[in-house]
Amino acid sequence: MAILSIPDLNKTIHDVSEIRHFLNTRGIFFDQWQADVVFEDSANQEEILKAYESSLTPFMNSGGYQTADVITINKLTENYEAIRNKFLAEHTHSEDEIRFFVDGEGLFWFNLENEPVFNLLCEKGDLISVPEGTKHWFDAGETNPFVKAIRIFIDMSGWIPDYTGSGLEGRFAEFRVER
Ligand SMILES: [Fe+2]
Repeated sequence: MAILSIPDLNKTIHDVSEIRHFLNTRGIFFDQWQADVVFEDSANQEEILKAYESSLTPFMNSGGYQTADVITINKLTENYEAIRNKFLAEHTHSEDEIRFFVDGEGLFWFNLENEPVFNLLCEKGDLISVPEGTKHWFDAGETNPFVKAIRIFIDMSGWIPDYTGSGLEGRFAEFRVER
C-alpha cells in the first residue's frame, strides 16, 4: 500500500483516502486495484495483462489509452544503474506516465509549483498517473530493485524524459521512506 511523504515538512501519510485526496486535489490520479494475483517469475506479459483485464480494459477505454505493456526490474536486470539514472533526474513527459504496480515497489517524486517536493511510494496494487508536463523523477532503489508494473500509454513515443536539469533530486538522495 502506498505511503506519501513530504520530507521538508517531516510529514508521512499512510492513510489511503488521505493520500488519494492529497493527490487528486493536485490533479494526480491515484487508485488501488485488487492485486491478489501471484505470478511466477516466469510469468509473461500476456499472462499479467490478462490477469488484470477486468480493471485495465475499462480504465483504458475511459482514458483513450491505446497500449499497455509490463516492465520488470529486479536484481538480475542488466545495466540497472544506467536504467535507474535515466529516471532519477527530474524530468517531464509529453504524455501521462501511468503505472500499475503488480508487484515490488518504486518511489515517485513530484515537484509541483509553489509546493514542497513530495513523494509517493507505490507498492503492489497502486495505480498512479503522473500528468503530462509534471516535473517528477522515479527511483526503484539503489540496491535490490524490484518492480513489476503495467505501463499504459496513449502513444509510447510521448514517454521520453525531457530533463529539466534542476538537479533537485540530489537534495533528496538520502531520503528514506518511514514505513
Ligand atoms: Fe517519468
